[in-house]
Order: sequence, then structure tokens, then C-alpha cells
Amino acid sequence: LYLGLDLGTSALKALVIDEAQSVVASAEAAITAHHPRPGWSEQDPADWIAAAETVMQALRAGLGERMAAIRGIGLSGQMHGATMLGADDRVLAPCILWNDTRSAAQAARLDADPDFRAISGSIVFPGFTAPKLVWLRETDPALFGQVAKVLLPKDFLRLWLAGEHVSEMSDAAGTSWLDTGARDWSDRLLAATGMERAQMPRLVEGSAPSGGLRADLARRWGMRADTVVAGGAGDNAASAVGLGTVGRGDGFVSLGTSGVLFAACDAYSPRPETAVHTFCHALPGMWHQMGVMLSAASALAWFAGIAGAAPAALIAELDQTDAGPSPVSFLPYLSGERTPHNDPGLRAGFHGLSAGTTRAEMTRAVLDGVAFALRENLMALAAAGTRPARLMAVGGGSRSDLWLGIIATVLGLQVDRPAAGERGAAFGAARLGLMAAEGADPAAICTAPPVARSFAPDPDHAASHDAAFARFRALREAVSARRG
Ligand code: XUL
Repeated sequence: LYLGLDLGTSALKALVIDEAQSVVASAEAAITAHHPRPGWSEQDPADWIAAAETVMQALRAGLGERMAAIRGIGLSGQMHGATMLGADDRVLAPCILWNDTRSAAQAARLDADPDFRAISGSIVFPGFTAPKLVWLRETDPALFGQVAKVLLPKDFLRLWLAGEHVSEMSDAAGTSWLDTGARDWSDRLLAATGMERAQMPRLVEGSAPSGGLRADLARRWGMRADTVVAGGAGDNAASAVGLGTVGRGDGFVSLGTSGVLFAACDAYSPRPETAVHTFCHALPGMWHQMGVMLSAASALAWFAGIAGAAPAALIAELDQTDAGPSPVSFLPYLSGERTPHNDPGLRAGFHGLSAGTTRAEMTRAVLDGVAFALRENLMALAAAGTRPARLMAVGGGSRSDLWLGIIATVLGLQVDRPAAGERGAAFGAARLGLMAAEGADPAAICTAPPVARSFAPDPDHAASHDAAFARFRALREAVSARRG
């Protein structure tokens, strides 16, 4: 058996698969984020450990003796968070999460140093790790002086599980400290933030072993000591491993809180000016590019809250076959945007409302607006030399047939919904645990799931969507121009 642990922003998910990759057990524990000031987003690493204890005890209750059959553990998690440890691995402060914008000014300053884009391959976005340490250096130099190690969230979980300071390439690429082409820390980028290599964890590939399970934990959970802990992956790369998005031209679209358009690449060819993220993949010799939108299904959830109805109920009010785009335009930038605009201050809006506008037209505008923003991400990926041949669709928003049909037409790409079953980051992490424990061939393990339903672009609506997309872009440009 193989265990995947995905340390998300709202929950820790555990999933156990067998040799045939069938899911045999799963468990989940909620995690809370704290927002002590506007723009801040933090978690207490002790809560991650508590959540891990909860899911491990739940697995033990379900699996009993079979816990001893777990041969490999893979870790996945929310990316970019800064977990700052002092000597003796003491946690110095709450972890500053990926969606915390307190270090936007520091990020912009680092990004203005051309070495950051040249070496890391991506813009230094406000949520990334390096600017958080610069923020600490500027606001609390005494605490900064105590930082002995900085770990990404899932790597802190690994420290507890295996007693080792280790990270892996895909998550490390989101720190702005990695030489992403060379798959190694960059001493130049570390020095530019007042840091050094000794404060970084050792690096392994995601599918390689990183250590073994501590004997005391193994005893507590009825597992074997030294059970292999794989490098694992950041949550997007882990999802890709779970979906079989590991070959050139493979891609997925994720409609979660954030929206991600992800493509696997067999070469490193960054184009940071597009605001596309170019990161290492979780498998050796592979990279990936992705456009990241900060609001996707969350835009519909926000509108549902305003409208006083559930998202599914709002979608049910619409024609279930695509009747063409809404006359209303919606910009989905409720939390600013990363790709392609790199503007944390950009904001959302409806435009084109009239006295006769209906709720259904506004709902449809939200679905269209997210699809149009995805099209701008696809254009950014194309400018970076990457064009997925088709997309798997995952995340809460992918449950809507209508939305996936709109996205297929707007992107001009076939969109496939995988058959029901767990294919998320925890499943990908379990696969990485399998590969690390057995030395298995990634191509044999990382197969794509069966497709439940495919959505093809609808040629009858291509022209009307193109016109609505042109209106969307003109509106966004006018809003950006007004911001200067
Ligand atoms: C990726 C990103 C998010 C987090 C959320 O760059 O910021 O997808 O990993 O978990």
C-alpha cells in the first residue's frame, strides 16, 4: 500500500492506494487559516501536525493491521508558504501562506532585480516565499536573525514524519530561490534576500526517497519504521501526477478557489514576462508551465453569496446547452490577478448592466468571465511556447457540464472530465510514494484516468464568444489603464 498526504489550505487529505492504484482508504481533517490583518493569511504549523495525527488515527481505525503494509508515503501541499524555524527546529512564527499579500512591495523590489526572473524563470509574485523573508528582515530583524531553516508547508510535515530537512524540485521552484533550469538552489538569489544555502532544505526529485518514517510514529500508527517518504510535490504538480499530466502537450484546467491552466513540458523554456509560472515538475527531467488565476470557482461562490443562492442553483437557472455568451461582462479579479496581469491590486467588476438585466445573465457573465480569463492564460502559455492538446478538468467548478462546454468553446480545446474517483493531489502524492518505494517507471504509473465525458468546442458559438471575449479584453484594458 502507498499513502498520499496533501496538506491543503483548508484541509489535510490522506489517501491510501494499493499496488493496482485502487483507493483503499481515505481520511480528511480541516485546517483553519487566520487573517489577523487585511491581506495577511497564516496557519500555525502545530495545527498541521494535529491534522496529520487525526488522519493517521482515522486510517489506522479503518485499516488496522494493514497499516504495516504501507511501503511508501508521498507528500503534497499548498505551495509558497514560509515556515520559519530557529535552531532546534523551533517554529518562530505562524507560517505565512501563499495567499498572503503583505510582502507585495518586497516582491516587486526583488522582481526588479533581473537575476530573479533570469534564474528562477518566473516573476517574483507577492505570494512567493523569498519576499516573505525580506519582509521579515525589514520588519523584525531580530527574528530574521534567528531563522535557521525555511521550509515549505509539506516539508515541515516531512520534518515531523522523517526528521529530515528536505524539499523537492516542484515546490522549491515556487520560492524564487531556485535555479529552476539547474534544479538547485541559487546562491545568488539567496544572497539577494540576505539568506544562504545552509538555511535551505536538501533537494531531491519528487519521485525519489527523501527519508524514512520515524520509529516512534511508526510504532504509534502500526506502521513499519523507515517506511519510505518520497520527495512529493507542490499541489499542482502532484495533481498533474495524479491525472497523468506528465508528457509534453498534456494539460489540465483546475476550477477551484484559484484557477490553474497547467501544461507539462519536457524542456525548460521560461518566459517570465508572460506571467506564466515555469516550475520543475515532480518527475526528473520534466518541467511544467502554468497560468494561475486567483479567483475561479470562488468568483461563482462569491456571486452566489451575494445572490443568496447556491452556485449549483444559479447554474440550474441557465439554459443547460450553451445559448451564447451573456450580454453582461464580468472581470473575475476579486483578489487581484497573477497570470497574465501580475497585478495584486486589479479588481473585479460587472459591466453592461441594464434595467432589464437578470440574475441569470449575471451568473452566465461570471461563467463567461472565468472562461475568458482562462483564454488569456492559454494565450500566455502559447506566448511561452506551450500549447496543450486537450485539457482534463478538475476542481469543484468542473462538476458543471455547462461551464466545461463554455470553456471548451472559449479555449477552442477539448475538455475532458475524468470518471468519478479521487484523482487530486493526494492521489498524485500516493503515486509518488509508490514510485519512491518501488523505483517504478513513472510512465507506467502516471496513467491518465478514464474520461467520463468530453466537451468539444461548439463551432456555432465560436464567433459570439470571440466577440464577447473582445469586449472582456477592452473592459479589462480600460480598468488597467485607469489604474495607471
Ligand atoms: C500555485 C499556488 C496555489 C497554491 C494553493 O502557484 O499559489 O495553487 O499552491 O494551494
